[in-house]
Amino acid sequence: MLVAGVLPEGARIVEARCMACHQAGGIAPMAFDSVRAIRPWAKAMSQSIRKGTMPPWHADEASSEHLAQVRALTEGEKKTLLTWLDSPDLSKQNFILTPPRAAAGWQLGTPDLILRIPAAEIPAAGTLQYTFLVSRLNFETDRWIAAAEWKIDQTQVVHHINAFVRPPGSSYVREAPVGQLYVASRAERAARRPEEREIDRRELLLGYEPGYQPQGWGAGRAKLIRAGSDMVFEIHYTANGKATRDSSELGLYFARSAPRERVLTISPADANLVIPPGEANYESRVSATLLDEAKLVSMQPHMHLRGKAYRIELNGTRRLLDVPRYDFNWQTTYFFKEPLLLRKGDTLQCTGWFDNSANNRFNPDATKTIYWGDQSWEEMNVGFMEIAIPAGRDADVVKLSGTTRPAGGRAENPR
Ligand code: HEC
Repeated sequence: MLVAGVLPEGARIVEARCMACHQAGGIAPMAFDSVRAIRPWAKAMSQSIRKGTMPPWHADEASSEHLAQVRALTEGEKKTLLTWLDSPDLSKQNFILTPPRAAAGWQLGTPDLILRIPAAEIPAAGTLQYTFLVSRLNFETDRWIAAAEWKIDQTQVVHHINAFVRPPGSSYVREAPVGQLYVASRAERAARRPEEREIDRRELLLGYEPGYQPQGWGAGRAKLIRAGSDMVFEIHYTANGKATRDSSELGLYFARSAPRERVLTISPADANLVIPPGEANYESRVSATLLDEAKLVSMQPHMHLRGKAYRIELNGTRRLLDVPRYDFNWQTTYFFKEPLLLRKGDTLQCTGWFDNSANNRFNPDATKTIYWGDQSWEEMNVGFMEIAIPAGRDADVVKLSGTTRPAGGRAENPR
């Protein structure tokens, strides 16, 4: 007999490893907030654990060693949890479980500044154009951002959002109106001044994708928003069978003191990929070479429905991240436990493999040649990486290769 009041070890593992998502208001469809709520799910839970589909985690063990916030269960946790879920005791227990943190509200605390995206009406069906919003920040001095967090209103219709900082003088979507949702043409999006450095054009502050979990960049690190910059949101809404109104928000947290390190997002991208119909293992490779030393803070592989596997390697020899079974629904940002020191001249290679065959159950059409594009049925290979450099250093620290023009150009797409 179990002693009343002492939470079984298996239930503790559910609290720690499942409830971040499986709680009321969490991103998972059912809450595991009591043994009673768990009971009807116990079989599905143990099956998903045995199959390795839950908790969702797609990096392999070897690269997981140096990663922070690994969601995968250890062998010991797996054994304890399965024993508990399979045991007849479960039907006699009546415990309440508590999540490690509540799903509702801002996870990182009350933001210093909240940027609101105007309400968007999402129709029940149809293809939605990539939507832009330019927000004036009106910062009169440079500001350091210690963290940023998305609060997504209707996760079922917000496919992804990228928030870019547009420094003063940038050519990026110059013609876009301010403060209203707007569809920018391809030509507007691709326009840039000759010789304009990417860092002077735009910088990704924070992306939201399915699977997103709020996280700061670490003590002493921050992103810089220069005085006079705007925030440009690139938003991809998707119809989900029901007309929906979405009003999502981005919260900014200002650094309390000057940071030691500036965090930058680099995004090597292969805008030239051409995936033949039926091809089951198309390889696309891009790389970034460091012009100065930097620390690698996080990595996020980005592909669409035909994405199959992804790898990020250092100098062609050291594997930093291996995602053997890429899942479009989980665009995980992988953080290092300790940022990795990169030297001047180091090269980060990002390789994505795509399955455009009929065997890929997510493939919307195996008979088409696939090019770069925003929509889920088009493809991308972007290796988003956050790097940290000493705060006063020049931010133009990488040379991207493997692609001949910036993401968004797509001159080779014949459509
Ligand atoms: C990071 C968020 C997250 C965590 C952590 C998580 N889940 Fe889930 N889970 C989801 C989401 C979202 C769904 C619904 C979509 C899907 O099935 O992928 C889901 C679905 C499920 C399902 C139903 C579908 C299936 O695979 O049978 C089960 C069972 C499940 N989770 C069990 C677990 C267990 C057990 C744990 C902890 C050991 C866990 N989950 C941890 C997000 C999570």
